[in-house]
Amino acid sequence: MTPQRTIEVYDSADDLYRAAAALVATQLAAAIHERGRALVALSGGSLTTRLYPLLANPPWRDQIDWGGLSVLFADERYVPFDDAENTYRATRQTLLDHVPVQADQVFPAPTYYRDPEQAAAIYQQQAAALLAVHGGAFDVVLLGIGPDGHTASLFPRHPALTAPADRLVVVVRDAPKPPSLRLSLTPAALNAARAVIFVVSGADKAAAVAAALAETGDRLDQPTRLIQPVGGKIYWLLDRAANPQG
Ligand code: 6PG
Repeated sequence: MTPQRTIEVYDSADDLYRAAAALVATQLAAAIHERGRALVALSGGSLTTRLYPLLANPPWRDQIDWGGLSVLFADERYVPFDDAENTYRATRQTLLDHVPVQADQVFPAPTYYRDPEQAAAIYQQQAAALLAVHGGAFDVVLLGIGPDGHTASLFPRHPALTAPADRLVVVVRDAPKPPSLRLSLTPAALNAARAVIFVVSGADKAAAVAAALAETGDRLDQPTRLIQPVGGKIYWLLDRAANPQG
């Protein structure tokens, strides 16, 4: 069953990120109300500086029962937790340190392992266990998109795109966006979602958005087109600059 897709365009980046905060808060609040708990997968990049600070403040902060939330990361740069490039670090600084979430609710990618394959195996186990507790699906997967069409750390034509279906986490080497070593949830993992929310701002993303929304072309060139959550919904939240329709 093709997932329902919604495309929303906002006049400005500020309007976009406020709308994204409202949608995330509504989805998580509804999930916690319905099931008593919710599971989210967070991405890095501008989300950490533009969206997460909004979620850490009223009115959106007050809509979420943070005690019921479990947090996983859609991808991570393979750098230590105290590195400025580390998404977990950035997310703590702009969100997690400012809301009533306990440490045992947050599952950063274990980038402290010398062997990234070992880290991927550990994170795979954690993701599988969390998905099992949450009815086999994330309530919200938050994603961005790069000018080249990558999402999470799934880059065009990268071997990580064709990982076996039972793999939830892969090591990504030679990523075109620095740092080159990363961990990423696979398309199979990201597709175990009730809602996938792409939040995209800026003219440099318009061509990638156009290709992502097109139903033509090789999906290995457009990793976002591999994100088809069965029975879930896909939201594309764009600002006017990122909207290919102009
Ligand atoms: C990362 C992200 C990556 C990001 C896109 C968009 O760690 O780099 O997970 O997938 O979402 O590159 O980044 P911007 O929103 O900053 O343009």
